[in-house]
Amino acid sequence: MPFSLGPEETRAYMSTLDAPAAQLDLLAAVAFRAVGAAARLGVFTELGERERTAGELAAGIGADEHALRLLLEVLVSSGYLTRTDGRYACAPSTRKWLREGVAGSFLPTVSLWQHLLFELWDDLEDTVRAGRPAADFYGWLEDHPGPAAQFQRMLGTLASWLSGEVTELVPVPERGGRLLDVGGGHARYSIAFCERHPGLRARVLDLPAALAAGKEAVEAAGLGERVCLHAHDILADDLGSGYDVALLFNIVHGNRPEQNAALLAAVHRALRPGGVVAVLEQLTDAGSSTDPDAVADEAMIRAFSLNLFHTQGGRIHDRAGIDAMLTGAGFRQPEWSTLRKLPTDHLAVARKPAGDAP
Ligand SMILES: C[S@@+](CC[C@H](N)C(=O)[O-])C[C@H]1O[C@@H](n2cnc3c(N)ncnc32)[C@H](O)[C@@H]1O
Repeated sequence: MPFSLGPEETRAYMSTLDAPAAQLDLLAAVAFRAVGAAARLGVFTELGERERTAGELAAGIGADEHALRLLLEVLVSSGYLTRTDGRYACAPSTRKWLREGVAGSFLPTVSLWQHLLFELWDDLEDTVRAGRPAADFYGWLEDHPGPAAQFQRMLGTLASWLSGEVTELVPVPERGGRLLDVGGGHARYSIAFCERHPGLRARVLDLPAALAAGKEAVEAAGLGERVCLHAHDILADDLGSGYDVALLFNIVHGNRPEQNAALLAAVHRALRPGGVVAVLEQLTDAGSSTDPDAVADEAMIRAFSLNLFHTQGGRIHDRAGIDAMLTGAGFRQPEWSTLRKLPTDHLAVARKPAGDAP
């Protein structure tokens, strides 16, 4: 929780420089690590709407009372909990965002960034020194099925929330046709497109661990006949042919430039003439990233971009960069839309010219 400092403290850290501003970030890092520990221990879910003493909480989650109290006090000082007469309770933001099972819970994101920052960022300096990713996110996920499932749950929740708007923006032939969802793991976008277009059939390509989430979602939607899931290395294998629509949602930012060139060429081959590719990405130079009132969004884009390079060799691009990739692969100039629900995210739709070879 961002600290709200008193006027004297603000002056000391920000104008007279009597105190190092980095101390505030040190405290923020401690608070974020403490939030991760509390989430894994089940503190927020156990508290829920209730008030508990440290002893009651320790008994409820199976922890040591003394050590737990020290953790709880960090969470009180950073604003995640309140303490009144020795009884702890969730602060309103914690109650809304950090409980298990609450719709739109932020916990999967907290959990993912705990792994990224406190495990995978261990050798960040090596990446910066060498200009090559020292970590391997998807290799790491393969060995960590818990975080892999949580990663797909986090993406799937976001996709379910955005899919209504996204399906409006991507043109699908009236007859329906065939859709290719490249790196579509949790399958929420394919499901949403098939629900909107009764004649459409979708094929989702992803790594095996990611497809487990997709299988569950497709079964729950009763779309097993129309949405098929295939374990497929999208960076190494051909993507097939004859598709009307290809989705590349949050894929480009994970790849190195030469991988993107090869992938977009494969997508171009996979589409029939006149077919469309839809690219969903954050951008470094559009929407909230140029809005002076969106400081946290801009900071998140920069944090994510550094993480993408360190763990995958990717990065967040600017609009001209994505345009160049698409036109370089043979697509027409894309049309861009900014998502109303999430202005950090932008959708490019580009057509394969109708005269191109199938
Ligand atoms: C950031 S996620 C995006 C998921 C989905 N398209 C969305 O927007 O919610 C990237 C996806 O690409 C998949 N992926 C990464 N590398 C891959 C590869 N070499 N072959 C197949 N899938 C891959 C990941 O498993 C993951 O599901």
